[in-house]
Amino acid sequence: MRPDDETTTTTSARPDHAPPGVPADLLHLRAAGVSLVLDLAGLPRVLHWGADLGDLDETGLADLRRAARPAGMGSPVEGGVGHTVLPPQADGWLGTPGLTGSRAGRAWSAAFVSGAPALTRTTDGGSVLVVPAADPAAGLQLELVLELTPQGLVRQRATLTNTGDDVYEVGSLTLTLPVPARATTLLDFGGHWARERAPMRTAFTHGTRLRENRRGRTGFDTPYVLVAGTDDLAHRRGEAWGWHVAWSGNHRSLAERHHDHPGLLGGGELLAPGEVRLAPGEAYTSPWVYASYGEQGLDALADRFHAWLRARPQHPSSPRPVTLNTWEAVYFHHDLARLVELADAAAAVGAERFVLDDGWFGSRRDDTSGLGDWFVSDEVWPDGLHPLIDHVTGLGMQFGLWVEPEMVNPDSDLARAHPDWMLQLPDRLPRPVRHQQVLDLARPEAYAYVLGRLDALLTENDIAYLKWDHNRDLVDAGHGPDGVPGVHGQTLAVYRLLDDLRARHPRIEIESCSSGGARIDLEILQRTDRVWASDCIDALERRSIQPWTNLLIPLELIGAHIGSGTAHSTGRSASLGFRAGTALFGHLGIEWDLREADDAQRVELAAWVALYKEVRGLLHTGVSVHADTTDPAIQVHGVVAQDGSDALFAVAALGSSAQMPPDAVLLPGLDPDATYHLRPQAPGDVVTHGQPVPWWGPEGIRATGRVLGRLGVRPPQLSPERLVLLRATRVG
Ligand code: GLA
Repeated sequence: MRPDDETTTTTSARPDHAPPGVPADLLHLRAAGVSLVLDLAGLPRVLHWGADLGDLDETGLADLRRAARPAGMGSPVEGGVGHTVLPPQADGWLGTPGLTGSRAGRAWSAAFVSGAPALTRTTDGGSVLVVPAADPAAGLQLELVLELTPQGLVRQRATLTNTGDDVYEVGSLTLTLPVPARATTLLDFGGHWARERAPMRTAFTHGTRLRENRRGRTGFDTPYVLVAGTDDLAHRRGEAWGWHVAWSGNHRSLAERHHDHPGLLGGGELLAPGEVRLAPGEAYTSPWVYASYGEQGLDALADRFHAWLRARPQHPSSPRPVTLNTWEAVYFHHDLARLVELADAAAAVGAERFVLDDGWFGSRRDDTSGLGDWFVSDEVWPDGLHPLIDHVTGLGMQFGLWVEPEMVNPDSDLARAHPDWMLQLPDRLPRPVRHQQVLDLARPEAYAYVLGRLDALLTENDIAYLKWDHNRDLVDAGHGPDGVPGVHGQTLAVYRLLDDLRARHPRIEIESCSSGGARIDLEILQRTDRVWASDCIDALERRSIQPWTNLLIPLELIGAHIGSGTAHSTGRSASLGFRAGTALFGHLGIEWDLREADDAQRVELAAWVALYKEVRGLLHTGVSVHADTTDPAIQVHGVVAQDGSDALFAVAALGSSAQMPPDAVLLPGLDPDATYHLRPQAPGDVVTHGQPVPWWGPEGIRATGRVLGRLGVRPPQLSPERLVLLRATRVG
């Protein structure tokens, strides 16, 4: 539920006066083409999560429940195995338990009895169900929140309170949703630095696919969205059920299937032993877990996430400014004259924001020292940052600054003064990564120091934007003098830090960066305004990273930069058209020492920036579409305006095709009944081989959305790593 929502009704989900014979404990929630049917006889049991079932009266619901009851075979647990969203063994459930934990071995199997659920219908068309439950013998109380958002997303979280009189140690709290047996394939993601969100497909068979992350951050290799789908699962085909754990610390996601259960998706936080020990009266709240359904493929599943994010009051609504980031342009070589020249070149091609990356503070002349000393370096900035900031703002650009607030180099004034402020074990410091350790932000003094420094920097300087980095996994992350497991507390402290800073500086925009794209999840995005998708700016690599990042988040949140001709991370060279046409589908930036760009490159770059400014309104509010191409060398994707009036597509050659001339490409997502004027969009790369395509010119063609989506058009012959853009405008 959104904070500013008004509720229309708050009722028990069980009508008081249900007619005799009609179950009073069934609830059918519907939103945006999704149905969620819940049996509320105990903790919610999901009878259906998926396509809208239309109107169902209570008799229909009762029959649905009867029809869903499994036949008894063999020697089943008496009463049948119940699968609730937090399945307990007490119900005969022998899969992954919803809750594990104990009081030194006692109270390890909780059997919750639920109280009266309360249903709130929000004015925006969503539903929020709150179910209280308790197991007095185990000394546990539970409050489960289950929402169906107006966009058809299901999200859940649970709060567990210790009502006993000794410590209850939480092992895990795993919320779940069922998926049907016809979901036979799984898609989730792996990856590493500079290659985030690499898709992996596996068969969904009996057993558990368990993805556990102990990196102390969301991770390069987070499952991101764990999708169960029918065997024809693709961007525009197949049914898809997706699961996302919104948590920036350790977490787990699983897909599980048994002979006696068709399948489920589940997950939650991954806790270390002893990490959450609840004293009497204390409570633990799980992360939010989100679930999205796509009746026709991954695009539909992604669209619910995008629509939900875009409906948040804090979602960035101003045009996403073209950003020049200095990292690959100057690295640590900070020099006012050089940066002024770079700012001039950036402004001349149309940049609107200039971000000074790492190297401006303390002794930070390379990555071996200075992290934690958040004071402008006298050595490189003797007059402070003001001369640069004044120059940048004088050019009409916003100024942004890189920070890495959670980190500390042991070679820093901060670490020398407070060696005990680092996450560590009593007898040892964690092994360093990039010469750095992690500041223990759950320590109030460390927290106050970092908040104070960030606050001072934002108060003393005209800074509109922070690039907030986090460059290492957390290893041996012990908190306090005893070195107890610290990731849970650290994750909450980082959220608090962002919230506190934003409360003091409400206009600041923050980018979530983590060695590239290792901290992208829906909880960090509640308090940040875009993500840095990857340190790899190589356009060919980005042609995989960006679309898959787009499975969860819309394009306006995905930082995408035009790099120099040769990618620093891979050494691969690409044309400016290919680089720019790839970065266009995101929040566009430039990360290139433009002082070295020649006049022709600057002119071409300015044309791309101008196109971005023209189409960002479309790209950042429209529906992302990805065609299912049969030719592995050809990628087709685009954005269609919500009202179907306008669309921009890219046809990109990832390599050389076995097909010559190329097959027709389908342009998905257009209004089937509308007629469109389709033509090439300049300055798309028109360096092609072969004979020109007959329709290729400003006149283009007129065709219906149905024809363009089902028959498509023959594109020009593209050399490897070239792309063309197509614009479709509704006519008549
Ligand atoms: C990380 C980020 C980069 C850059 C460097 C600076 O690697 O992902 O974009 O900011 O840190 O040290």
